[in-house]
Amino acid sequence: MSTVVLIGTQWGDEGKGKVTDFLAERADVIVRYQGGNNAGHTVVVDDKEYKLHLIPSGILYRDKTCIIGSGVVIDPAVLIEELKSLEDRGISTENLKISQRAHVIFPYHKLLDQAEEKSKGSKKIGTTSRGIGPAYMDKAARVGIRMLELIDQDELTSLLEENVLGKNRILNKVFDSEGTDYQAVLESYQSYAETLKRYVADVSLIVNGVIEEGKNVLFEGAQGTLLDLDHGTYPYVTSSNPTAGAACLGAGVGPTKIDRVIGIAKAYTTRVGEGPFPTELFDEVGAFIQEQGGEFGTTTGRPRRCGWFDGVIGRYAVRINGLNYLAITKLDVLSRLEKVKICTGYRYHDDIIKDFPASLKVLSECEPVYEELPGWQEDITNTGKLEDLPFNARKYLERVSEVAGAPIAIIGVGSKRSQTIVTSDL
Ligand code: GDP
Ligand code: IMO
Ligand code: MG
Repeated sequence: MSTVVLIGTQWGDEGKGKVTDFLAERADVIVRYQGGNNAGHTVVVDDKEYKLHLIPSGILYRDKTCIIGSGVVIDPAVLIEELKSLEDRGISTENLKISQRAHVIFPYHKLLDQAEEKSKGSKKIGTTSRGIGPAYMDKAARVGIRMLELIDQDELTSLLEENVLGKNRILNKVFDSEGTDYQAVLESYQSYAETLKRYVADVSLIVNGVIEEGKNVLFEGAQGTLLDLDHGTYPYVTSSNPTAGAACLGAGVGPTKIDRVIGIAKAYTTRVGEGPFPTELFDEVGAFIQEQGGEFGTTTGRPRRCGWFDGVIGRYAVRINGLNYLAITKLDVLSRLEKVKICTGYRYHDDIIKDFPASLKVLSECEPVYEELPGWQEDITNTGKLEDLPFNARKYLERVSEVAGAPIAIIGVGSKRSQTIVTSDL
């Protein structure tokens, strides 16, 4: 397997957690490289369900090293809660390492996230309200506080005071909101630092070291290509880069160290939050997919908007991420539909667009051009081999692969680790 980057090709929630957990068996080290607890990854092993937000999905294997890289923003209270809930269920977190350089989310980031969304009114992004955008803003503005400073009493005390004062000014004067109490925040973050300091390390040294030894490393992205700050449906995106290139930045390795990139796509498309979505369905088929797929957010519980597989997005994700393979998840959700559709291009006025546009104005006026294929009625949730899938399901996958322009290496037929078909030697 060597070094593999796993990314979402759509608007997030493609099943990255499940595929990471599945591939983690072959990996020695699993690195989460961006995002924060805006992510929600559900992993099902046997009959047990685990919901992870910050910790890489490899944590469910005792012998793997799991790393939170410098590109991640960390809410320490959430991380401690996640560690505790894993430990309570008998999962060891001994082998977790957290980058010294990862930035920390503070209560004022959450307040600013909420206040900014409220002030945008109908133009709101529909963020997860977890303070993700404001934390990355501080990182870019060079006023952020990293894990390294969190665990250093003197640094934390002085940096936090400057930040609380500055943010309270904005919260009070711009948003007419109360702000945070420096002393209370300091005390709670000092206590978080005590709990977390034993995990903090220079993770770039660790990751490069294990690659040097020829070990297998899995880089796990959160969110998806269309939520990417540079390449997504801006401004309806997250504030980090979920695309494959960011794995290098967020883990501290060079591009020459990456062997392969796998893009995860649902057999259809979903989106949480605002913004255009060309193949969105507003009819009973959309409702069927939402119900069969259990399409409600892992983090916020919001219903996910559902639509057909979008091949324009598939091709875009192949290009932006340099995908070697696709992993198609949730194929089982489409069973029992009489017909299934794949979007192969967009009709824009008198033109057919094949390449995903940068302009949201253009995107919102695009009409999907569909290819219709016959559905399959069989239950495929116990199918273990590609050749045992119904003929029509195989034809559907073949077309998805052709339209997107990448071979399919993994197929998901259910939420459990065991409900996975591998079709290529990874
Ligand atoms: P992530 O954010 O990309 O990790 O995806 P989420 O975990 O937020 O959402 C994917 C959901 O689909 C989770 O509830 C998974 O348990 C579930 N899931 C993943 N793969 C499959 C699959 O192949 N079939 C079915 N039915 N469910 C799946
Ligand atoms: P996983 O890793 C789906 C969306 C939010 C919102 C936008 C910006 O589970 O795939 P943010 O809080 O990041 O500033 O919100 O991004 N979003 C996600 N949608 N899955 C996620 O993560 C998401 N993380 C953020 O709904 O539209
Ligand atoms: Mg999710």
